[in-house]
Amino acid sequence: MGDRSWLDLNFLHNLVSAGILKSSTFDPQVSTTVIEVQNLVYAYNNQEPVLQDISFNLNAGDAYGGQLRVALMGATGSGKSTLLENLIGLKPPTSGKILINGIPLEPKTLPQVRRYIGFGFQDANDQLFMPTILEDITFGPLNYGVPPAIAIDRARALLTDFGLEAYAHRSTHELSGGQRRLAALAAILALEPTILILDEPTNGLDPAWRRHLAQVLLKLPVQVMLIASHELHWLGKVTQRALVLSGGRIQIDSKIQPLLQEKDTLNELGLPVDW
Ligand SMILES: Nc1ncnc2c1ncn2[C@@H]1O[C@H](COP(=O)(O)OP(=O)(O)OP(=O)(O)O)[C@@H](O)[C@H]1O
Ligand SMILES: [Mg+2]
Repeated sequence: MGDRSWLDLNFLHNLVSAGILKSSTFDPQVSTTVIEVQNLVYAYNNQEPVLQDISFNLNAGDAYGGQLRVALMGATGSGKSTLLENLIGLKPPTSGKILINGIPLEPKTLPQVRRYIGFGFQDANDQLFMPTILEDITFGPLNYGVPPAIAIDRARALLTDFGLEAYAHRSTHELSGGQRRLAALAAILALEPTILILDEPTNGLDPAWRRHLAQVLLKLPVQVMLIASHELHWLGKVTQRALVLSGGRIQIDSKIQPLLQEKDTLNELGLPVDW
C-alpha cells in the first residue's frame, strides 16, 4: 500500500489549485436530485421482468456535507447489476424513467450524462482494455481533452494511491485480481465523476485494501455514490442509506445503521448479516 494517502486534504486542495480536480464538487449548497428513478421496469428479452416498478430519488443535499452515499443490497440474482446498468444507459428500461441531474436518460443525452458518472463494473476485466494500465487510466481524460502531461500526472498519483506505481507499464492480465480491481477504480476516478456507481468494488480485495478503499471513497469529492455489495458491514462503514432489492422491487429504503440491526428482516430478504 502506498504510504501517502491521496485523501490528505492538502493533497486534494493542491489538485484543485492545479486545476486537476474541480472545486465545485465540494459545494455543499447544491441540492438537485442527482438520480431520479420513476416506475422503472426491466425485463431481459421475452422474460418476466427482473425489476418491477422501481422508484427512488438520490439527493446530494439530503446528506450531511452534501454528499450522499447509498448501498444497494440484495441477494445474488436480485437485479443489482441490472439496475446499475439501467442507470448508466447500458440497458434501457422496458418502461419508466431515469433522470440524472434532471436530464432524462435517452440515447441522445447519453454522452452528456455519462460525463457525470463513473461506473465500476462487477468484473474489472470489463473496464481495462489498453495495452498497459497507465494507458487505461489516461485513456478517459485524454479522450475528454485533458492535456497529456496533466493526465499522466493524475494517473501516476492514482497509481501511487492504489499501490500500483511499479505496475504502470504492465498489462491488466499481468496483475492479480485485487490489483486489477484497484487499477479499474483508478481509471474511473481519473475522470473525476460527480456520481460514482460501483458494482461490488471490494471483490478480490484483502481486508487491508477493503479498509483503504473505504477510506478513499469516504473522502472523494463526489455528490452521490451508489454501491452494490454483499459486504454488509463494509457498506455500513461507507454508506449512510440502503436500498434493498428483492422480488424485483425496492423492499427497504432506510438509514443503513438501524437496518443492519434488523437481522431477521434482512435474513428474510436473503441477506444474513453475519455471513
Ligand atoms: N443477459 C441476461 N439475460 C437474461 N437474464 C439475465 C441476464 N443477465 C442477468 N440476468 C438475470 O437477471 C437477474 C438479475 O441479475 P443481476 O446480475 O442483475 O443480479 P445481481 O443482483 O447483480 O446478482 P449478483 O449479486 O450475483 O451480482 C438474474 O436472475 C439473472 O439470471
Ligand atoms: Mg451483480
